[in-house]
Amino acid sequence: MRRNVLITGASAGLGRGMALEFAARGRNLALCARRLDELEKLRGEIVGRHPDVRVAIRALDVTDYARVAPVFRELADELGGLDRVIVNAGLGKGASVGTGKFHANRQTAETNFVGALAQCEAALELFRPANAGHLVTISSVAGTRGMPRAQTVYAATKAGLTALSEGMRIDLLRTPIRVSTILPGYIETEINRGVKWKPFMVDTATGCRLLVDAIEREPAQAYVPAWPWRLAAFVIRHAPRAWLAKL
Ligand SMILES: NC(=O)c1ccc[n+]([C@@H]2O[C@H](COP(=O)([O-])OP(=O)(O)OC[C@H]3O[C@@H](n4cnc5c(N)ncnc54)[C@H](OP(=O)(O)O)[C@@H]3O)[C@@H](O)[C@H]2O)c1
Repeated sequence: MRRNVLITGASAGLGRGMALEFAARGRNLALCARRLDELEKLRGEIVGRHPDVRVAIRALDVTDYARVAPVFRELADELGGLDRVIVNAGLGKGASVGTGKFHANRQTAETNFVGALAQCEAALELFRPANAGHLVTISSVAGTRGMPRAQTVYAATKAGLTALSEGMRIDLLRTPIRVSTILPGYIETEINRGVKWKPFMVDTATGCRLLVDAIEREPAQAYVPAWPWRLAAFVIRHAPRAWLAKL
């Protein structure tokens, strides 16, 4: 059993929801995000409900790349090792390329891809010497194909993260270290509050229970919810560009 679980982006949305779900399943938690006050509130809530669960928290901006590995090491020391790291921190800011929003597009690219890489480096620096561990990346169905407008850079970062995860998985094939890529569809959180068309959306608690169920199976790759997103990804991959332009 993966007893000690680190989750980044745990102050809100899916990270927070997965923390509550793992706590209900008796796992100790190492939680990071930029908003320490939210992590303190979450720790209080978890310990109130599950007094036996240990919760370590740290403020961490995943784009402060040099801080990522030291924070992961501190959290590992505090809990007595890490068995699973969930690379979850992410954002969805952005606009069509060439419309003066480089700042927002770059922030999305840095957080979702370079920040994710920094987290994978830090996790595997702990897992490789131990020859054990489960690395989980939270990618997205959006990474299946290039996407227009506000999703252009977001989709590119998620395609990059999916490929990065597959590369690490192949690299670690003959070791006991597992790498899982999770591809959520629409799960209700802040990230999609402004999105007008959100087909097949599920509420946060349902989505997070399904995410944790999928993570516990330790697959190479999983769509969450599996139905209808595995089929939707196939359709998106083969859809005409004129159809995607309307999304
Ligand atoms: N919800 C969906 O439908 C959906 C679908 C597909 C994929 N995803 C992916 O799921 C992950 C979580 O998204 P969400 O829906 O839970 O969004 P959310 O509610 O907006 O939460 C995002 C989390 O990421 C953290 N974060 C953002 N930038 C950060 C940074 N620079 N350093 C550290 N933490 C940072 C935020 O914490 P602070 O602000 O406190 O730092 C927050 O805890 C993302 O990778 C997202 O792309 C979500």
